[in-house]
Amino acid sequence: MSAKSEEHEWWQSGVVYQVYPRSFQDANGDGVGDLRGILSRVDYFEWLGVDAVWLSPIYPSPMKDFGYDISDYCGVDPLFGSLEDFDALTAELHRRGMKIVLDFVPNHTSDQHPWFQESRSSRDNPKRAWYIWRNPGPNGAPPNNWLSQFGGEAWEYDGVTGQYYYHAFLKEQPDLNWRNPEVQEAMLNVLRFWLDRGVDGFRVDVIWHIVKDDEFRNNDPDPNYHPGLAPARRLLATYNTDRPEVHHIIERMRDVLDEYGEKMMVGEVYLPLERLVTYYGAQGSGVHLPFNFQLIELPWHARVIADAIDKYEGLLPSYGWPNWVLGNHDNPRIATRIGAAQARVAAMMLLTLRGTPTMYYGEELGMHNVPIPPERVQDPFEKNVPGLGLGRDPERTPMQWSTGPRTGFSEAEPWLPIAEDYASRCVEAQRDDPHSMLTLYRRLLELWRREPALNIGDYRSAPAQGDVLAYRRVEGDSQFLIVLNLGGGAAVFSGMMPVGHVVLSTHLDREGEAFNGRIELRPADGVVVRLEK
Ligand code: NOJ
Repeated sequence: MSAKSEEHEWWQSGVVYQVYPRSFQDANGDGVGDLRGILSRVDYFEWLGVDAVWLSPIYPSPMKDFGYDISDYCGVDPLFGSLEDFDALTAELHRRGMKIVLDFVPNHTSDQHPWFQESRSSRDNPKRAWYIWRNPGPNGAPPNNWLSQFGGEAWEYDGVTGQYYYHAFLKEQPDLNWRNPEVQEAMLNVLRFWLDRGVDGFRVDVIWHIVKDDEFRNNDPDPNYHPGLAPARRLLATYNTDRPEVHHIIERMRDVLDEYGEKMMVGEVYLPLERLVTYYGAQGSGVHLPFNFQLIELPWHARVIADAIDKYEGLLPSYGWPNWVLGNHDNPRIATRIGAAQARVAAMMLLTLRGTPTMYYGEELGMHNVPIPPERVQDPFEKNVPGLGLGRDPERTPMQWSTGPRTGFSEAEPWLPIAEDYASRCVEAQRDDPHSMLTLYRRLLELWRREPALNIGDYRSAPAQGDVLAYRRVEGDSQFLIVLNLGGGAAVFSGMMPVGHVVLSTHLDREGEAFNGRIELRPADGVVVRLEK
């Protein structure tokens, strides 16, 4: 679909769209989204103009962490449908020239996975060493001070065999022991299973967590911790994450993908940039794209973001392809974080920076976090650590399709509430509105597809002050200047630039305007200018 260059792979010149399957489209009327529902919306992906669809987990799961607790890596949970439904969706996406990316969750299984059931049954079970079992510390205490990401200790005592097992997340999500070659083989076979079925790539869950210190040393306190942060942040995660041996494991995953040709791995890595870029691996033997979460994590200030872009561009290895993302199922929606007006600026930034963009479903409508009444809370993180605003339900609410009942998502009451303002922030209301967020996204995606300078071109920063962020994208003799006002007041950009004209603006009302080296911006205004040769 995208303007292709022979030296670029689909995952470099394409746009990825994340679907949270529980919340996208319910076809069987149980209030939870499913694969048949997603299949019924393939027209929408095509119309919108995305290149790949990433599905959060669809595997059999007790749903303690809504699918990130997997009890069978090679199946589909009946809630979502069947393997046949999955094959039908894959075939339809492929028929339309789109790719399908699955979530691969290697760090932990469900405690209901047969591997763990065996492992916990006795100390001499052949699967004992598939998980991380340790003797109690003095007086029966946990083996060390590691904390669970979802609150409390990361160790659970199992009375049957008198040892503790490690879980970086819920106690129902025991961590696999990736130092064990049998685990490696079994999990690489999971990749092969799905690659044989035609998947085009994987988003790899918490990839920086999968190997732990072999001496199980205690973590030190984090001097920057303050109450209000997630409790696990009390300690630096020195010994339970980002261990050097992880790169060898990733290389093995990469080797499997490479056997299949043009496949892609995007790794979930929340680390500082200097550490993040190591996940490209030596000479590109790592993940193709270590997720770059800077636009999720940084304050929305032009100077901070300008510096971050330059730093990122500077740290990328020569073989490392960049990527950008504004939101996902674990973080507050961008429209809530920076407001509706700036969300349009963010959209323009996402789709004009150098690197693969990943969109989160509903971002294209300006969907915002939905307040969840206490009796409807679902997320275990919120239940374990209430009141800190860490719950992820608000960004997981149903996709907003129509102005009709339950916004066309389901015939039943959805598993999470629908936003009150859905009638104005839905596909039906926005698709023919020339000034809507959805129209802005479609126009940006159209431009991205058409213009190699925007999807694969070089990045050059441009000097700007105050709330203005400016940069150029260049490919051959095609050149664009992007000027964005991240502030709430008017601003002016003037630089030593050739002349040109505006091809797209965040307010969708400046197209065709001449650019003579200077441009005035209204609050939250942004423009893409085609520069003359
Ligand atoms: C990261 C996933 O994105 C998140 O949703 C999940 O809870 C944890 N990993 C545990 O799998």
